[in-house]
Amino acid sequence: MEQELINLQAQAKDQLAAVENGGQLENFRIRFLGRKGQFSTIMKGLGKVSKEDKPRLGQMANSIKKEIEALYDEKQQTLSTSIGASSADEGTIDLTLPGRKPQTGKLHPVTQIMNEVCSIFESLGFSVAEGPDVEHDHYNFEALNIPAHHPARDMHDTFYVSDSILLRTHTSPMQARIMETQQPPLRVIAPGKVYRCDSDITHTPMFHQVEGFLVDRDVSFADLKGVLTIFTQKMFDKELELRFRPSFFPFTEPSAEVDIACVMCGGSGCRVCKRTGWLEILGAGMIDPEVFKMVGYNPEVYSGFAFGLGIERIAMLKYGIDDIRLYYENDLRFLSQF
Ligand code: FA5
Repeated sequence: MEQELINLQAQAKDQLAAVENGGQLENFRIRFLGRKGQFSTIMKGLGKVSKEDKPRLGQMANSIKKEIEALYDEKQQTLSTSIGASSADEGTIDLTLPGRKPQTGKLHPVTQIMNEVCSIFESLGFSVAEGPDVEHDHYNFEALNIPAHHPARDMHDTFYVSDSILLRTHTSPMQARIMETQQPPLRVIAPGKVYRCDSDITHTPMFHQVEGFLVDRDVSFADLKGVLTIFTQKMFDKELELRFRPSFFPFTEPSAEVDIACVMCGGSGCRVCKRTGWLEILGAGMIDPEVFKMVGYNPEVYSGFAFGLGIERIAMLKYGIDDIRLYYENDLRFLSQF
């Protein structure tokens, strides 16, 4: 038994020294160290040796096995550092293949559209202002001519933080915030996130708006129509039909909702435009004199228009997306297309 162990030790060392690649190393492991390998067989034979010899031979077998296992680990390390060369020898890696490109991040499609919208308005002379997502009831409603218990509050499906603090339901509070600190002439856009308890194929609980407003002397509804027409032409690189539908917002008079001919179906009617051929992209109007009075502007001297654009809706039309919720499901197969 003792001689058998010494022979096995020498044999294992010789064979391990001759190993040159992963395949040979695995064969070695099975032959010597595996469950049915030569060391296991010898260990099983220990049962037959005399009681006196058993402890000594057992100890000897264990220390030889440990020595071979350590040499095996060392060999594995050596081979893995030169794996490129050795695997290439075996033909498992084709070194002539072009490398794999690391995946790079991209801007979210909604951010891309937001940036595009902002740069179009900047090219028209609007400056950009940002305000808080968590807003005072005062700016979200009161300063926009929507007092407590006004029925228009129902349209907003508001998330309240406390009685007087809420997640802003639109970017219009920025009208009041800017006007109370600056004097006309003003030409401002305010992009940002807004929140409403609302969800279906054209509504999400968090979405983005860009508020725009212009205040000066002699501003008319024609100026509003002109700015929005130029905006849609630049945004969609073609002349798209716009529809101004009379509407109501307590902070504009007259008010309109603006629809764009549905690019998904070309106006013939589909599930996105709810079979109407039109998709609403913004609310707009001439700023109500009451709002001017609240910020200390003289409505006899100044007039202005304002609008609030839904960015996800623009992105849907631009990219032909038929369900707004896709933007927020974090599916990389969808997002990486933009
Ligand atoms: C407003 O939010 C007004 N503040 C707009 C405004 C500004 C009017 C200035 C007058 C003057 P409205 O609730 O219609 O209006 O929303 C404006 C746009 O946001 C809609 O046309 C639509 O494009 C988009 N929108 C509204 N709700 C959602 C929603 N849940 N998900 C995605 N987009 C939405």
